[in-house]
Amino acid sequence: MTMYQKTNKFKAIQTEEIGKGFISKVVEREFDGLPEGDLLIKVNYSSLNYKDALSATGNLGVTKKFPHTPGIDAVGIVESSNRSDFKAGTNVIVTGYDLGMNTSGGFSEYIKIPAEWAIKLPDGLTYRDSMILGTAGLTAGLCVQALEKASNIEGKKAVVTGATGGVGCIAVQLLAQLGAEVTAITGKDGTLGFLTGLGAAEVLPRDQFKESTRRRQPLSKGLWDLAVDVAGGDLLTSILASMKYSGVVTCCGLVGGTAFETSIFPFILRGISLIGIDSVEISLDKKVEIWNRFSTDWKLDNLEGVCREVDLVEMLAEIDSILEGGQIGRVILKP
Ligand SMILES: NC(=O)c1ccc[n+]([C@@H]2O[C@H](COP(=O)([O-])OP(=O)(O)OC[C@H]3O[C@@H](n4cnc5c(N)ncnc54)[C@H](OP(=O)(O)O)[C@@H]3O)[C@@H](O)[C@H]2O)c1
Repeated sequence: MTMYQKTNKFKAIQTEEIGKGFISKVVEREFDGLPEGDLLIKVNYSSLNYKDALSATGNLGVTKKFPHTPGIDAVGIVESSNRSDFKAGTNVIVTGYDLGMNTSGGFSEYIKIPAEWAIKLPDGLTYRDSMILGTAGLTAGLCVQALEKASNIEGKKAVVTGATGGVGCIAVQLLAQLGAEVTAITGKDGTLGFLTGLGAAEVLPRDQFKESTRRRQPLSKGLWDLAVDVAGGDLLTSILASMKYSGVVTCCGLVGGTAFETSIFPFILRGISLIGIDSVEISLDKKVEIWNRFSTDWKLDNLEGVCREVDLVEMLAEIDSILEGGQIGRVILKP
C-alpha cells in the first residue's frame, strides 16, 4: 500500500474549466472519486499522445465533462479486482476505449476500469516498453499490419509522415526493421540523425515534399509502394498523388487537417488503396494480436532511444509541446 492509499488520496493531473479556458495541474484525488469499475490499477507508467493534449485543452470531441484526468494509456498492477480472470497482482495494459476521454485517465497514480478494457502485459514486454509504444505504437502496428495484409513489406519503398512524432517514429522503426526502404517526412529541422537512427533511408522536409507534388493535378510522380500517414490534410493529398502502381496508404491522424483533396485517378489508374485505422474502439482481440507481435517478431531494437521519462509535474509542459507539434519521439509518465 502506498502512503496515498492509507490517507485515501493519490496524485493525478486534473484539467479544470475556468471561465472560457482550461487549466491542468497536479492535485491529490480521493479513491471515492474514481469511476465504478472491475479493476483498481496502480499505474506504473502512462504515456503522452496527441489526444491527451486535446482532452487537456477542453476539446469536446474528446472530453465532455470537467474536472477530468487525461491519459488514454496506462500500464500497471491490478491492486483489487472483482474478476477471477484478473487477480490482484496481474500486470495489465490499458489503451483506448473511454480511458482518459470521459473516464478518469492514466495521468494518475491509480485508474479504475471495466475488465473488458484490460490486456495482460505480454511476457516479452517490460512496463516501460509497453508505454514507450502505448497507443502510438499500437496505432503504428495496426497501420503496418494493414500494409502487410495488402503487400510485402521487405524491399518496398515506404513513406511515413509526422515521422518524429509518436505514431510516426514507431512506424519508421518497425517498417525499417521489416526491411522496407523508409522515407521519413518531417516538419522539424535537425532531426536527420534521430530519423536515420530509427532506420529511415531518406528524410524529406514536409514543405519541400508538398511543394514538389502536383497536388492540384490528379497524379504526381509515383514514388512509394506503402504509406503511413498521421497528418491528413495537404500532406495526405500529396501522398495520394505520389503513390506507385498498387500503392497502399493507411491514414490515422489529423494533425495537418481533417480534409484532403484527391480524385478518382490514383484509384482507377494506379489501383491504389486508402485504409483508415482506428486503435481506440477495435476489439480487444485485435489489440492483443498487435501487443503480442511487439513482444515477439516485431520486437523493436531501439525503443529506449525514442523515449523520455517525466513525472506528473513535468508532464504539464509536455502536453503544451505535443499540441504545437513539437514532440520528438515518445514521452512516458512515471506518476
Ligand atoms: N486513429 C487512431 O486510432 C489514432 C491513434 C493514435 C493517434 N492518432 C492520431 O494520429 C496523429 C498523431 O498522433 P501522435 O500521438 O503521434 O502525435 P505527435 O506525437 O504529436 O506526432 C504528430 C507529428 O505530426 C507532425 N505534424 C505536426 N503538425 C503537423 C502539420 N500541421 N502537418 C503535418 N504534420 C504535422 C509532427 O511531426 P514532424 O515534425 O516530424 O512532421 C508531429 O510530431 C494525431 O492526429 C492523433 O490524433 C490516431
